[in-house]
Amino acid sequence: MSIYLDHAATTPMVDVAMNAMVTQLAELGNPSSLHSHGRATRKTLEDAREVIAKEVDCLPTEVIFTASGTEANNIALKGLYWAGRAAGKKLVVISAIEHHAILDPAHWLLTHEGAEVIQVPVTPDGVIDLVFLKELIDNRGQEIAVISIMHANNETGVIQPIAEVVRIAGQIPVHTDAVQSFKKTPLSFSTLGVIALTLSAHKIGGPLGIGALILRRTVEIPSLLHGGGQEREIRSGTLNAPSIIGFAAAAASEHYPVDEITDLRDRFIAGVREVLPDAIVNGAGADRLPGIVNVTFPHTQSDTLLLLMDGAGVSCSTGSACSAGVHEASHVLLAMGHTEVTAQSSLRFSFGATSTTADCDFVLSVLPDVITRGRAANSV
Ligand SMILES: Cc1ncc(COP(=O)(O)O)c(C=O)c1O
Repeated sequence: MSIYLDHAATTPMVDVAMNAMVTQLAELGNPSSLHSHGRATRKTLEDAREVIAKEVDCLPTEVIFTASGTEANNIALKGLYWAGRAAGKKLVVISAIEHHAILDPAHWLLTHEGAEVIQVPVTPDGVIDLVFLKELIDNRGQEIAVISIMHANNETGVIQPIAEVVRIAGQIPVHTDAVQSFKKTPLSFSTLGVIALTLSAHKIGGPLGIGALILRRTVEIPSLLHGGGQEREIRSGTLNAPSIIGFAAAAASEHYPVDEITDLRDRFIAGVREVLPDAIVNGAGADRLPGIVNVTFPHTQSDTLLLLMDGAGVSCSTGSACSAGVHEASHVLLAMGHTEVTAQSSLRFSFGATSTTADCDFVLSVLPDVITRGRAANSV
């Protein structure tokens, strides 16, 4: 038995994406070259850009391809901060539950670039505190260079009220990290009204190492990478045509059955509650993505559970970052009110397009034994 319930970490590539990518790998031509080889690659690449633009509801010129979601987040946060700082604004506002690809650049701006960083707290269900944000904007709105709040959280799947954030923010630029949301819940750049939005291909059945920053057409920000200026002078580097084409094919493929995955998630939650009544489903009261379930199993230790699960043939995740081989307590669960101990007694199960009812039921069948053994290991 080998069951993969870690689709929030990365997804299997869909066939159409793999085929499109392999076909393009055999083609020759730098898309910036003016000869016929270059122009042929450029044409395929611009078609791919149009596909991504259509899927996220923006203009093709608003798509800036990057080498990852991490890079897109860095370009957005640092670039919007630098643009704001030039106008005397030094405050960076993020949420307490951001991915490290926002948390860490924010910390870097604080330690190296003179920024002040304020984190918006979340409710026990993991939704950002809009009252806190509104008060902050009422009091210090003139100082804010950028607000970056993720669209849905990668550990709990909790969806954030971004349209409301944009409304409260008024003229302040808002970026959202939509890496986990794209193709899993409705996502429209133009309707949301954000200035910048991050995507990553490998979370939607596309290849690793390709992402995009959707950046409003009129916005100019300083770049991180200087060179050929390929992407609106904001991102330099020869465009990775095969990966971009794989990304677009995955985005267009409609391979993600939202209703079925939601049913699987709910079947799993009901099953967990039946076999382990003291388990806590984190964020259960909030609007969530279809595929992510984060559960705290009291009196256990996440690392032990992960290994026991792996031994039982199930790949899942602790959801939190790993430093020197040891998982830290998740900052997301801590922000939701967990203690260090209970935050470190939690696992994330993430379902995807290839998940089945049999996968779900198998995990439920091994779970009681895994938890019993995890508790025994924890009590010695
Ligand atoms: C919410 C979120 N943002 C950003 C990233 C980073 O994306 P990438 O793996 O493309 O760098 C991830 C990946 O785990 C994520 O879940």
